[in-house]
Amino acid sequence: MLSMDPGKKISFQRRICDGDLAIVYERHDSMKAVKVHEGSELQNRFGVFKHADWIGKSFGSKVFSNKGGFIYLLAPTPELWTLVLSHRTQILYIADISFVISYLEVIPGCLVLESGTGSGSLTTSLARAVAPTGHVHTFDFHEQRAASAREDFERTGLSSLITVEVRDIQGEGFPDDFRGLADSVFLDLPQPWLAIPSAGKMLKQDGILCSFSPCIEQVQRSCETLKASFTDIRTFEVLLRTYEVKEGRMEYGAGDESDSLGPLPCKRRQCSSDGSIGSESFSAPVIMARPCSETRGHTGYLTFARLKCLQ
Ligand SMILES: C[S@@+](CC[C@H](N)C(=O)[O-])C[C@H]1O[C@@H](n2cnc3c(N)ncnc32)[C@H](O)[C@@H]1O
Repeated sequence: MLSMDPGKKISFQRRICDGDLAIVYERHDSMKAVKVHEGSELQNRFGVFKHADWIGKSFGSKVFSNKGGFIYLLAPTPELWTLVLSHRTQILYIADISFVISYLEVIPGCLVLESGTGSGSLTTSLARAVAPTGHVHTFDFHEQRAASAREDFERTGLSSLITVEVRDIQGEGFPDDFRGLADSVFLDLPQPWLAIPSAGKMLKQDGILCSFSPCIEQVQRSCETLKASFTDIRTFEVLLRTYEVKEGRMEYGAGDESDSLGPLPCKRRQCSSDGSIGSESFSAPVIMARPCSETRGHTGYLTFARLKCLQ
């Protein structure tokens, strides 16, 4: 994961140190963030794991308990952090986040303004995208949420890239200190149209704004407001379809190849040494991919707009 070295440069730290945050991976649906302390232990259904055994190992290592059970120690990337953080609010997930980062054109060195901070899910990815020389200023009017987000950014080692402030952005707008300085602004607010005029003032010429709203009525109202000083207004809904990839055995009938493959898309089939599939009935290992039953549906609409350039 990203961690700050003494020279204040973001670096990928490969070996686990005392005090690091690690993602303890039991299964894809069972992960949690753990701070590594030399004298501590982790206890779960697989046994007792001594943190001291983890120190010096590479992120990604498999480590064993006193009973021979195992877990993996993963680096706390923004992608994993989004899955393990404590949900103090609704959060943005990786499909929306990756789209936002791309369409806001966030690159190292950018200055990004965000409101509200919420659980800091998007903020974490924004910070990695602007590192090592950029900065994210994020605002939430809820004091406790802002404080918890600050603590999380300390834990994930991103606090030097993020400033969290308590402010009512719909009521007061963004602070005037940022006028004309922001490369991009992101809004996840209940009434984003109230913050759009201020966001426009904060952006550099050609800067981009994105607003996330769960309801289409909010989108319509935001677009009405955007028309005054923005161009290239576009709204997207990102629908992600996850596939489960598994190895299984498939029956092949003689001369009946397409029928016997069934309805599942097949990525690889085992062939004989001469490369042919063979003409007799047989059972062969195949890798199958099928849509997961729990695929996430609608999250919200993402509206992007670019500040109009001066004529
Ligand atoms: C849905 S959450 C944002 C989640 C965030 N995008 C994430 O990925 O974790 C919306 C946040 O906006 C904050 N908020 C609502 N109205 C606000 C306002 N007028 N000014 C600043 N923050 C506000 C709420 O306190 C809440 O934390």
